[in-house]
Amino acid sequence: MKVIICENYASECAQAADVIEKIVREKPDCTLGLATGSSPVGMYQELARRCREEGLDFSKVHSVNLDEYVGLSGDHDQSYRYFMDSNLFNHINIDKANTYVAKGVGDIEENIREFNSVLDNSVIDVQVLGVGPDGHLGFNEPGEALYDGAHKEVLDESTIDANARFFASRDDVPRYAVTMGMGNIMRAKKLLLIISGNKQDAARQLLIDDKITTACPATFMKLHQDAVVFIEKKLADEIGYKG
Ligand code: GLP
Repeated sequence: MKVIICENYASECAQAADVIEKIVREKPDCTLGLATGSSPVGMYQELARRCREEGLDFSKVHSVNLDEYVGLSGDHDQSYRYFMDSNLFNHINIDKANTYVAKGVGDIEENIREFNSVLDNSVIDVQVLGVGPDGHLGFNEPGEALYDGAHKEVLDESTIDANARFFASRDDVPRYAVTMGMGNIMRAKKLLLIISGNKQDAARQLLIDDKITTACPATFMKLHQDAVVFIEKKLADEIGYKG
C-alpha cells in the first residue's frame, strides 16, 4: 500500500484527482468505481474543474458506484444516485447512460442480481473509496465474515449515527443498503482511498496495526497489489503515523 500524507484536504483532493486524471487520459474508455460520502467531494469538484477548464474528457468513461441506500429512489436528495448526479455527473461530460448506481427501491433481490451482473461484466480500473468510522468500505460493515459479491447489508448503529448528519433526523436514515462486496472492491485494478474526517480508529487499524481483520474491512486493502491511500497530515499526526 502506498500512503501519501497530504498537507490538507485540498491537497489530498488534488493529488487524488491526479490519479484519476492519469487513468482517464491513458484509457479514455476506462471504468471508474465511484464512492459517495463527504470524503471524495473535493476530488469530484477538482475533476469537474479539470473537465471544464483543461479538457479532461469523460465522454467515453463508464462508472459503477459502490452502494445505495435501500428505500431511497434516485430522485431522493440523500440517495447516492442523486449524490453522484449533483456532485459529479452534472458537471462533467460523462454520458449518464454509462453510469451505474444500484437501485434502492423495488425488488431488492432483483436489484442485487442486476448489480452483480453489472459488476461481473465490468473491470474496474480504479475504485475510489472513503472509509466509515467503523472501518467499513462501501457499506461492508465489520462482522464475522465479509461478502464477496454485491448484497444487502444491515447498517451498523455507528454508521447510522455517522450518516444522520445528512438527514433531517436520525430516524430518517435508512437501515439497509445494497453494496458491492469486498471481493468486488478487491478485484478493482487499483484502489484509491481518501481518508478524511474523524476516522482515527479505522486509520490506525489500516496504517499502524499489522492485522487484517473482518472487524475492520478497510484492513483488507493491505492485500491489494496497487492501493493508494491519501490521508491528511492532521489525522496522521493524531494517530502517530509518520509514513
Ligand atoms: C458512507 C458510504 C461510504 C463512505 C462512508 C464515509 O457510509 N457508504 O462509501 O466511504 O460513508 O463517509 P464520509 O466520507 O462522509 O466520512
